[in-house]
Amino acid sequence: MILLLGGTGYVGEAFQRELQGRGLSFRNLRRAEADYGQFSVLLGCLRRLNPTFVVNCAGYTGKPNVDACEQAKADTLVGNTLLPQTIAHACAAAGVPWGHVSSGCIYSGAKIVGADGVVRVEKDMTRPEMRALAETHPERIVGFTEEDTPNFSFRDGPCSFYSGTKALGEEAVAGIGTSYVWRLRIPFDEIDGPRNYLSKVQRYAKVYDNLNSISHRADFAKACVDLWLMDAPTGIYNVTNPGWVTTRRVVERIEGILKPSRRFEFWESDEEFYRVAAKTPRSNCVMDSSKLLAAGVKIRSVDEALDGALRNWVVQGA
Ligand SMILES: NC(=O)c1ccc[n+]([C@@H]2O[C@H](COP(=O)([O-])OP(=O)(O)OC[C@H]3O[C@@H](n4cnc5c(N)ncnc54)[C@H](OP(=O)(O)O)[C@@H]3O)[C@@H](O)[C@H]2O)c1
Repeated sequence: MILLLGGTGYVGEAFQRELQGRGLSFRNLRRAEADYGQFSVLLGCLRRLNPTFVVNCAGYTGKPNVDACEQAKADTLVGNTLLPQTIAHACAAAGVPWGHVSSGCIYSGAKIVGADGVVRVEKDMTRPEMRALAETHPERIVGFTEEDTPNFSFRDGPCSFYSGTKALGEEAVAGIGTSYVWRLRIPFDEIDGPRNYLSKVQRYAKVYDNLNSISHRADFAKACVDLWLMDAPTGIYNVTNPGWVTTRRVVERIEGILKPSRRFEFWESDEEFYRVAAKTPRSNCVMDSSKLLAAGVKIRSVDEALDGALRNWVVQGA
């Protein structure tokens, strides 16, 4: 039996569907039933329920966006740093392996392969030279690997408070027990809703253009469960659909496939975006998912996953 923490959340729902689809038995433990953020409570549950694996999809995400975390710093720290550390210690004490849903938002920018083959980090992909490179030499823009130290964190700022606590969460669980750390990045899928990136893009008054790796929600949950079932080495994995997209490309695909009646407008500049629409810095980054692929996990490319979601678009209640 698999124990799911945070299973009723946006990411947790995808794990529930994935486990159900595979016929794997699981138990979704809710804080209302047992305050699993308390070490003794969680350890008691682990001893009583005796799971073979624990999936942690619990955490604190600001709603409607990360700006909300700046107003709820204690909750953000508790949910994203202290909770994973407690789970790590309880799982280690009970001898249960586990997987933690982390985030790619602990990075900013991408890695650029120079004409001379030298690779360097570029934190700001909105610079005109970088936008031009994305058009002319997209193959020279590569992602951060699991070996790269987070560069959008409290240790290497500026960062949002949310991202800082996610990076600290990874540090807090390192070396304790046996665990996977699965980095999710900007979840999307075919189901219209306030948490879906593709819905958000359609609802913004103006769209912010940048480069990002993104994760199809069901592909993410499937890949995470695959890693465990195939007994892949534990450790950190970037679990994004391979590749990256610009927000302009996402908008083009929305226009091409969903044919909305509205016209999309973009923020003129970072300056305008941060002055008018955003309070805390946003992570925009490219992730390298080659470790996931090398482990034997099959996952659609970002273009396939994006087009698949838009071609199967479902508006609930419509
Ligand atoms: N959504 C994203 O854009 C995104 C992107 C990258 C990474 N992530 C990560 O994915 C994980 C799940 O995110 P989500 O979007 O599914 O969040 P969500 O919809 O808000 O669900 C999170 C669940 O976590 C549980 N929880 C336990 N302790 C909590 C605490 N201290 N504060 C708040 N919730 C707590 C709650 O379930 P119960 O009360 O029922 O136990 C809650 O329903 C988080 O770690 C998040 O950082 C999310």
